[in-house]
Amino acid sequence: MKPETKSGNEKQNSRLISSSVKNPPLIEYRNISVMRSGRIVLKNINVSIELGEHIAILGPNGSGKSSLIKTITRDLYPYMGKKESYLRILGKDRWNVFELRSFLGIVSGDLLDNHAREILGSEVILSGFFNSSRIWRFQHIELRMKEKVKEVLKLLEIEHLAERKLNQMSSGETRSVLIGRALVHEPEALVLDEPTSSLDLRASSELHKVLRKIATAGTSIIMITHHLQDIIPEIERVIMIKNGMIVEDGVKEKILTSALLSQLFDIPAQVVKRNGHYYLW
Ligand SMILES: Nc1ncnc2c1ncn2[C@@H]1O[C@H](COP(=O)(O)OP(=O)(O)O)[C@@H](O)[C@H]1O
Ligand SMILES: [Mg+2]
Repeated sequence: MKPETKSGNEKQNSRLISSSVKNPPLIEYRNISVMRSGRIVLKNINVSIELGEHIAILGPNGSGKSSLIKTITRDLYPYMGKKESYLRILGKDRWNVFELRSFLGIVSGDLLDNHAREILGSEVILSGFFNSSRIWRFQHIELRMKEKVKEVLKLLEIEHLAERKLNQMSSGETRSVLIGRALVHEPEALVLDEPTSSLDLRASSELHKVLRKIATAGTSIIMITHHLQDIIPEIERVIMIKNGMIVEDGVKEKILTSALLSQLFDIPAQVVKRNGHYYLW
């Protein structure tokens, strides 16, 4: 992503010009099933996410949302069934974590656990270049990396966090810094696992603003959440997941209905739409 120099449309156009053939999907799950501790947690997942799409994956706790991400990061492996199954990233069956970073910037709660709490905000972002949880003396920091960190701090409007230690930041601030860490590689998509968990209303709303800016700048947003409010207006497609299965997948307006949300969360729910945002009553 080059938010300072290219608009989302320009980025899309340059992609179209540079490739006359259709790009493979960014992520393609074909008949993917996963077991954890002897229990099936993902059942026969079939889904294709194209480059440039903004998507929300919505489901209650324990429905398998994080497991979906863990199959991409290879923290979990699908098991072989009778049907042909694969998980492809930009058409490739095999990839490593270093390659993955330039396609998908994954931001999850687990990430924070690995970071030393004494590390500065700018170092957390810089550590994204090395796929490490801190900056070591032997790591060679190039000028372009420092420049990129500055650019990301500016984009996220968190320049004031550059010199602040992680343990002196609020939950919202640490979340922004981790998003910055994922953005240094200019990924095609930012994958966010429950980005507003433990954030208060104001911090959530600020994070939504930042995500809207990132989406507009041309990076796909793949939002994994159980909060309807997290579905920013730029998100056009919603996938519902329940008990490890995809139960709905389609355009937001058709999916976010009171009937479907009541079924998904097993509660009588009413959807309210206001200024492009959705709320559950
Ligand atoms: N470390 C684990 N070991 C075994 N089972 C797990 C583990 N973590 C989660 N699970 C189970 O996997 C299922 C899906 O969990 P998860 O993908 O974390 O759901 P979600 O992110 O939607 O809350 C749940 O039934 C959960 O109990
Ligand atoms: Mg989860």
